[in-house]
Amino acid sequence: MAFKTSLILLLQVALLAAGVISDDVVFVFQNQCPYPIWLSSGIATGYTNLKMKSDTSKTYTMPYTWNGSIWARTNCSYDKTLNFSCETGDCRSGSIICDSLPAIPVTLLNFAINQSVVHYELSLRHGFNVRAKIQPDGGYLVDGGFGACPAVGCVADLNHVCPPVLSFTNKNGANVGCYSSCDKFGPPKYCCNVPDCHPDPYSIMFKHLCPSAHVYPGDDRPPIYGCTGFKAINVIFCPIV
Ligand SMILES: *[C@@H]1O[C@H](CO)[C@@H](O)[C@H](O)[C@H]1NC(C)=O
Ligand SMILES: *[C@@H]1O[C@H](CO)[C@@H](O)[C@H](O)[C@H]1NC(C)=O
Ligand SMILES: *[C@@H]1O[C@H](CO)[C@@H](O)[C@H](O)[C@H]1NC(C)=O
Ligand SMILES: *[C@@H]1O[C@H](CO)[C@@H](O)[C@H](O)[C@H]1NC(C)=O
Repeated sequence: MAFKTSLILLLQVALLAAGVISDDVVFVFQNQCPYPIWLSSGIATGYTNLKMKSDTSKTYTMPYTWNGSIWARTNCSYDKTLNFSCETGDCRSGSIICDSLPAIPVTLLNFAINQSVVHYELSLRHGFNVRAKIQPDGGYLVDGGFGACPAVGCVADLNHVCPPVLSFTNKNGANVGCYSSCDKFGPPKYCCNVPDCHPDPYSIMFKHLCPSAHVYPGDDRPPIYGCTGFKAINVIFCPIV
């Protein structure tokens, strides 16, 4: 029996070494936007090659335990003093590497990775800049329900429907982001953060357009999903609909 177990273990080690089986948590980022984006995360992942041209993808192995936000920055450039900044999602670090939370408004993709279990949500609690979707490739739920791991996202372009009082415009006057009503107007009326509270009309509108996203502070529908057994977690910016 012990012999059998150690043989199986030996086999697994050999297969792992050969790259046949693996416990790596793989994220596949896809930029389907017609413009470049710069990947960003609140907690460094060790990757520095963060610019993604339109219609490209990148595959990253994530740390075994990692808990943080990922977002897309848009319209980034260096100024004359080599200070790097972006029109939306700016990290305010002056460099391409982030070491802080982003400037708002920004679409946030939140993850808690614990070995082979990944919890994921798309949050509009700090507004919207880029359409995005999290789509596990395979796997099954261990939290938030049963069965296949659902996609969550905000596929509608809120910049096109953003009420003028919430819109974030660039220097050309184009709507490039949309604030959350909570960030813009503050509590209590606009920050529904207790059970059974009534979201304000702006939050209701965003929830209607992006039902699988979490829109206001107390928004817990759908639940935060925990997924395991997936091949990869696909993170798609500007998913083609
Ligand atoms: C980037 O900025 C330029 C100049 O301000 C603007 O014309 C363009 O629409 C912006 N692009 C995006 C994707 O926001
Ligand atoms: C870098 O640029 C950003 C955006 O224009 C600005 O807010 C920040 O103060 C600049 N930092 C430095 C060190 O110049
Ligand atoms: C991730 O971090 C957040 C904020 O610190 C915390 O509320 C949450 O419980 C953490 N999740 C996990 C699974 O560790
Ligand atoms: C991570 O998973 C392990 C094993 O299932 C568990 O013991 C631990 O509490 C988890 N950590 C967090 C922060 O959820």
